[in-house]
Amino acid sequence: MHSQKQPFLSKLQGLSHSRSPHRTFSDWLEIAAITLHQLPYQSGELAKDAAFERLEQRYMEAIEPYSKNDLTVLSEMLSLTLIAHHTGYGDFLGEMAGEAELLNKQGGQFFTPYHLCRAMAKMTLGNIAAQVKEKGVITLAEPAVGAGALVIASAEEVASQGIDPCAHLQFDCTDISRDAFNMAYIQLSAMGLQAVVRHGNTLSDEYWEHRPTPQLRLFHQWHETQQRTQRLVQAVRSLFEEAAPSEDCEIAPVPEPSVTLFDMDEFAVEPLRKRRDHPQSDIVLDRQMTLFGS
Ligand SMILES: C[S@@+](CC[C@H](N)C(=O)[O-])C[C@H]1O[C@@H](n2cnc3c(N)ncnc32)[C@H](O)[C@@H]1O
Repeated sequence: MHSQKQPFLSKLQGLSHSRSPHRTFSDWLEIAAITLHQLPYQSGELAKDAAFERLEQRYMEAIEPYSKNDLTVLSEMLSLTLIAHHTGYGDFLGEMAGEAELLNKQGGQFFTPYHLCRAMAKMTLGNIAAQVKEKGVITLAEPAVGAGALVIASAEEVASQGIDPCAHLQFDCTDISRDAFNMAYIQLSAMGLQAVVRHGNTLSDEYWEHRPTPQLRLFHQWHETQQRTQRLVQAVRSLFEEAAPSEDCEIAPVPEPSVTLFDMDEFAVEPLRKRRDHPQSDIVLDRQMTLFGS
């Protein structure tokens, strides 16, 4: 993961000639997060909807101050981030922000070192393989997500137990900082994890924006197809059973596909200031929230 570090920081520095590095980094985060959100729409995997249109407009506004050459550098920084996440687990952007001193320390923005996140994830998750076997999909909430280190460490812990975290975990993450919201969205999307990332205040339950990762959107699309197929299979079976009832020949029930935590219709409209009633996550990664609640 570390061979992408120096090139990323030099590109950021190179772009910061007429703006502060913090401004450039924030702009890059905004642009990179929207780029990843729009990818499955651009490739035709998802049908364009109101969320796509809204973010397309925001994207045009965000890139406006940058020249063509600058935009090439910004896209190279996104490529380096994607490569970093495809070569190993780690908090790449959290480390970049720390190295370039871009964190807001007054706002409680210090990120936990990744090796500590790994230890915390191990303690919190325990033997998660048994739960996955029972439920199919496990839901986890991260109320103060930062750049996503604890989520990434949880995914690594689950992978170390022989389970694919992209297929069996769904995360619900929130951060009050706009930069953290974007960093988490970029890293979780880059890893192909299913998550909703929210820009909001977990303590007062106020939200300004929420965004599902592409993997969650695609999972949901697949899940709907599964449910339709299942209804069809069920209808055909009822016909056979009515036509030829037999006590000897018992047909095994069709297993229900795992349910998802999120109501996806919620994301097509403007975000709500307050969240609707929502199901509780199976696991809450809330060890740090106590720091801010007191
Ligand atoms: C110490 S960092 C931890 C980040 C991450 N969990 C980690 O382990 O790297 C705390 C994060 O909580 C966020 N935060 C502080 N108050 C919050 C609140 N009321 N609601 C949501 N996030 C909050 C900060 O912006 C910061 O990103």
